[in-house]
Amino acid sequence: MPTAMPRPMVAGNWKMNTTPAEAVQLAAAVRDGADGLAGVDIVLCPPYISLQGVADAVKGSAVKVGAQNMHFETSGAFTGEVSPTMLQGVCGYVILGHSERRQLFGETDDLVNRKVKAALEHGIKPILCVGETLEQRESGRALDIVAQQVRAGLAGVDDITGLVVAYEPVWAIGTGQAATPEVAAEIMGGALGDTLSSLFGPAAAEVPLLYGGSVNPGNVESYAAQDSIHGSLVGGASLQAEPFLEIARLTAQAKSGS
Ligand code: 13P
Repeated sequence: MPTAMPRPMVAGNWKMNTTPAEAVQLAAAVRDGADGLAGVDIVLCPPYISLQGVADAVKGSAVKVGAQNMHFETSGAFTGEVSPTMLQGVCGYVILGHSERRQLFGETDDLVNRKVKAALEHGIKPILCVGETLEQRESGRALDIVAQQVRAGLAGVDDITGLVVAYEPVWAIGTGQAATPEVAAEIMGGALGDTLSSLFGPAAAEVPLLYGGSVNPGNVESYAAQDSIHGSLVGGASLQAEPFLEIARLTAQAKSGS
């Protein structure tokens, strides 16, 4: 069993929302509200076009910045793509393998794996997203699917320093149908935690495991109360500073008491 607990983390995935001006305003509000909030890492993941503006807005504060995607090559003829070397120095994190990328943009486990390796090689912390669809859950394959996505996403990786893994059941994203904390903990302590431990031994205990899918200030404490859940990856509720900050506060509080 893991002995150390990773530092709690709350990441906001803004998806394709906010203009550059709105993004800077939202980031500044989170920065101000997060002042003095200890015990939780806060990461903001705006659209590419707002990464620099958000990075500038939170500079000097504890708030961190992440991208929502990344190509695995460093440069070249890849129209519309953004490389690890472009992100270096602008943001410290990158969300990879989000189910929307997998479902709407055809990202495969192999592609996600290349991106994860490229991020780690460039010192950018990957937030690797995994999660089953409703059909996979209903056919009793949730644990297997998640374990497989973890193994495939991390194939060939030796050093997982900086890795974050988010469990986001596809059926819980943007639906208001959050997974119960017990369902989330079953996957995160089991398929996720066990697979990471079997692959990486004690280093797996350092990996923050985030739950994502309809997290809000009203339900976040029930997730944070679970030992196998170290924080959350928040979509809709991260688009306004106050609910997002409340999620961060409640996470810090729940984790400091455990
Ligand atoms: P919601 O919080 O809007 O359900 O989105 C979750 C998500 O996909 C975060 O990456």
